[in-house]
Amino acid sequence: MAQAVSYEVTDGIAVLQMRNPPVNALGAALRRDLAEALARAVQDREVGAIVLSGAGKGFCAGADIAEFEAPFADPWVPELCDLVENAPKPVIAAIHGFALGGGLELALACHYRLAGAEARVGFPEVNLGLLPGAGGTQRAPRLIGAGAALDLMITGQPVPVTSALVRPAFDMILKEGLNAGARLFARKVIDKGMRPRRTRDQGAGFRDPAGDRKALQTWRARLAGKAEKAPGDILRCVEAAALLPFEVGQEFERAAFDDLLGGDQSRALRHIWRAERAAPRFGELARAPPRPVAQLGIVGGGSRGAGLAAAGLIAGHEVVLVERDAPSLTAALARVARVLDRAVRRGRLTQVQRDGIEAVLHGKTDLVALSEADLVIETAGHDARARAAIFAQLDAVVRDGAVLVSGAAYGDVEALAAQTGCAQDVLALHVPLPTLTAPLAEIGVGRHTGAAAVATLHGFVTGLGKRAVWARAGGGLIGSRLMAACIHAADGLVLSGVAPERIDRDMRGWGMGFGPYQMADMLGLARMGDHLEALPGATGVNPHRVLAEAGRAGRRNRVGWYRYDAGAPRGVPDPDAVALLGVGADGAGDPGDIPGRLLAAMANEGARLLEAGIARSGGDIDVVMTGGFGMARWRGGPICAADAAGLLALRNRLRGLAEAEGGFWTPAPLLDRLIREGGRLGDVEASAG
Ligand code: 3HC
Repeated sequence: MAQAVSYEVTDGIAVLQMRNPPVNALGAALRRDLAEALARAVQDREVGAIVLSGAGKGFCAGADIAEFEAPFADPWVPELCDLVENAPKPVIAAIHGFALGGGLELALACHYRLAGAEARVGFPEVNLGLLPGAGGTQRAPRLIGAGAALDLMITGQPVPVTSALVRPAFDMILKEGLNAGARLFARKVIDKGMRPRRTRDQGAGFRDPAGDRKALQTWRARLAGKAEKAPGDILRCVEAAALLPFEVGQEFERAAFDDLLGGDQSRALRHIWRAERAAPRFGELARAPPRPVAQLGIVGGGSRGAGLAAAGLIAGHEVVLVERDAPSLTAALARVARVLDRAVRRGRLTQVQRDGIEAVLHGKTDLVALSEADLVIETAGHDARARAAIFAQLDAVVRDGAVLVSGAAYGDVEALAAQTGCAQDVLALHVPLPTLTAPLAEIGVGRHTGAAAVATLHGFVTGLGKRAVWARAGGGLIGSRLMAACIHAADGLVLSGVAPERIDRDMRGWGMGFGPYQMADMLGLARMGDHLEALPGATGVNPHRVLAEAGRAGRRNRVGWYRYDAGAPRGVPDPDAVALLGVGADGAGDPGDIPGRLLAAMANEGARLLEAGIARSGGDIDVVMTGGFGMARWRGGPICAADAAGLLALRNRLRGLAEAEGGFWTPAPLLDRLIREGGRLGDVEASAG
């Protein structure tokens, strides 16, 4: 079996190089081989100093996240770090690329540290709901101080090795020649008789106790009331570093790490970490290469169209934006300009880039202008008939091989494809608002869509910096279907007298970025009404339709479920809205467990999407809901939350609701099967894509 660590001795220097592609994650084999190589170097009489480096693109990405679901094999990362630190010969870390999490902890356990100037280091454990658990919370403050350690560990953001936060931890930063530099350094160590310098015995980081206390206070205040557990535990461990002997602090850290590792929050964040990496892997990518997209066509310059046009420009595409007449075009181009200006203000675009960018934006009022476009996204059609008409016209003007995309989350891609002679090149795309900054995009694949069109749209959205998620088009993509289910479940409460703002408040408290009625106002109540009418099983009064017909459009005309008066951009509750429904406006209905009810509806809808092959996996659903609909990542999304609460409990709740309120709540048969088999929704993989 290939060794995960190479061992080479020259001139009294042993070079131990980690070789575990692609990122030298500290999996069991690497840990074992590193411990063995270290022991060999210690025993080798010829060796006076040891250099530890990594092959490939970086030094080490930390613990192997794939191993977190089972007990760790010995030596686990903290033990490995202790072996390194307690080695009787000097160990020198030579860091290139990155040293993250356990990788940085390994470097901090070495006696000396060198780094290439391009390298970045950090503690991203918090993104997994964890803390640095291999001595990082105890060693880092001893070298760089509590304030810098907290900044690194609580934000989880890697920083350049040259940054003032981490520079004190390094003996030397080399612009080039890291390996040769490490050997020279090792030679100097041997020649000068320099001894191992254990980080646990260092105290340079403690020289500003007042500064450390202030940093602790500042972070404590910032974290007050936050639901995430890991940041608070990091704070306590870093605080302990200055108060407790190293070994006691290490035990404190270990207990906190184990506690977080076994908790729901870290489990949810690990689920999202895996799911986000899996989501963009579409089966189609192996079947056809993407076609190049030089020119992007956008039909319709409303907020979505303008956002997509701006995103396309920023990503380097030439953009042709088509509106129906000159005044609409002027308004659309002004909208694009506003999005670009906002991008400059937020640092996504420099002013210099901004100045030149509109030279490749062409505003037109005739679809004929799209004859050279490689990809056309239609965002103009307000209903199925209007969209179909646009697709028929597009078919007549675009060139062979152009990919035609419907920008509607709901919509019948087959019907649109039938308007064209190129069904293999027709598909759907849904980018959550705000379009420019949304981190993901759902790609709706029709039954006749070819792999090349899918690969092309995938390549395009990836180029915009968005994560692509696969969905089967037709009857609503993933996010819209789950939000519709959530809102329909909420509507049942509103119609029984529970105030919408109460529902929104409870859902935000649970971990949604926006409450369902805030979402409905953002989307527009007429469109929300459409979505609910398309939701399978949703019957009865459609309160969004009632409000829309009473002139309450939502945010667009400043009155929907809330009123958006001047000075109240976030909206104020409006009893007049509920009064239109003929229910008590005092919010006196019995709300019961609001998050439990709404999440049950979302999880059940998710199970239906999996059964129907609309979503490929439970992970994809959660990626959409956390990335596109503001659900807290530490909740893991509705599928992960359902698994955590137990599918049996979910099904029983659904059965009770179905008895009381009807068919929408009928449990998806997939739940019965998973309960029988002891399976989890989050592990379901449909064979689509
Ligand atoms: N464990 C397992 N696999 C990892 C990994 C890790 N720590 N880090 C990255 N990978 C995998 C990725 O999943 C991906 O696999 P795939 O090709 O099958 O999808 C592959 O390595 C390459 O990763 P990227 O595509 O992300 O490559 P990039 O070059 O874009 O980025 C990176 C490299 C900066 C290292 C980035 O992968 C990263 O940030 N990784 C996460 C690192 C992390 O969170 N470390 C902390 C782990 S927890 C820990 O150390 C606990 C300790 O305190 C005890």
